[in-house]
Amino acid sequence: MGKNQIKIFDTTLRDGEQVPGCKLNCVEKVQIAKQLELLGVDIIEAGFPASSPGDYQSVQEICKSVYNPIICALSRAIKKDIEIAANSLKFAKQARIHTGIGTSDCHIRYKFNSTKDKILEIAASSVKYAKKFVEDIEFYAEDAGRTNNEFLALVCEEVIKNGATVINIPDTTGNCLPYEYGNKIKFLQENVNKIHTVTLSTHCHNDLGLATANSLYGILNGAKQVECTINGIGERAGNTSLEEITMIIKQYKNLNVYTNINTKLICYTSDLVSKYTGMKVQANKAIVGKNAFSHSSGIHQDGIIKKRETYEIINPEDVGIDDSSIILTARSGRSALAYRYKKLGYSFTKNTLDIIYSVFLDYADKNKQVEDQELKCLLKKAQLKNNQLAILHHS
Ligand code: KIV
Ligand code: ZN
Repeated sequence: MGKNQIKIFDTTLRDGEQVPGCKLNCVEKVQIAKQLELLGVDIIEAGFPASSPGDYQSVQEICKSVYNPIICALSRAIKKDIEIAANSLKFAKQARIHTGIGTSDCHIRYKFNSTKDKILEIAASSVKYAKKFVEDIEFYAEDAGRTNNEFLALVCEEVIKNGATVINIPDTTGNCLPYEYGNKIKFLQENVNKIHTVTLSTHCHNDLGLATANSLYGILNGAKQVECTINGIGERAGNTSLEEITMIIKQYKNLNVYTNINTKLICYTSDLVSKYTGMKVQANKAIVGKNAFSHSSGIHQDGIIKKRETYEIINPEDVGIDDSSIILTARSGRSALAYRYKKLGYSFTKNTLDIIYSVFLDYADKNKQVEDQELKCLLKKAQLKNNQLAILHHS
């Protein structure tokens, strides 16, 4: 059986940009959108045009500058929002309106002071109205993660009847456990009339650190689109990170799914988004953190130098990094020290290495990390201590 494609819906420019302090200007948004196109995303959620004239303009400019991905604009289930979204998309080669409303008891009661019947009516009529402008309509059932499955199924049926092409099941508050989110997708697959005429999409937030796991369980249960952001940026604890979910799919061939992402562009794209949004990536972030391919303890370094796979499951070249790094600290061993000196053009006999290593350890104990320039100084120091040192130079 052939593999199924999982569509990558990138919402860095919409949900990602909602992060306080991450505001991007139009030029930056267009540049990120072009990079997302190179990266191979299938859909770019370019913004929420009714939210501000600046966002409207950015969506319009992205439509003019990007050719392959579908350009999507967010709107509430309000006629005026939908009209603005439709207008902002008029230059798109392929346009999608993403409209929706909260469906959980909590949202219905406290946010809308409404009833389930009224919400069903609004869901249906918003999709019907959006359909007057574009063919491709995605509906989001906000807070689907906390929405009762039977009611969610009714909402899905209503929006399918009115022409939705994609249904987004957001775990807006990052509340679900993976099996629970997976079962929700499964329940919809099994209980919604004509569900196979639409694409089910995951949109998971990371409040409990489960966004990527939940998206994966969504895929395992039949979702064919994943909404995610570069570096996992997004409201509060963020969204599913594009680099995590796409690398899981690449690593695990037996999932029988694939994406169109050119993973070799992941780290470059991550740096670009971090630079423009001003959001630093945490050092230990999976895939794109600065330590993701760095090794600093002696045991690990020794293993990596002998065979990379001893401590790395991902080839750094697959995400656009030239090589793994051997970081020298007081926890490093002789083989790491010899490896780093070799890169600088020096090699030593065993006895010499022992002498240099003791000078190195003395220094490393007082410093966090030892860099190339410091290694050269340490070599001079060791030579002064012992002028018989046998140092071999090579190019
Ligand atoms: O988290 C969410 O529910 C959203 C919707 C607006 C799609 O971002
Ligand atoms: Zn969201």
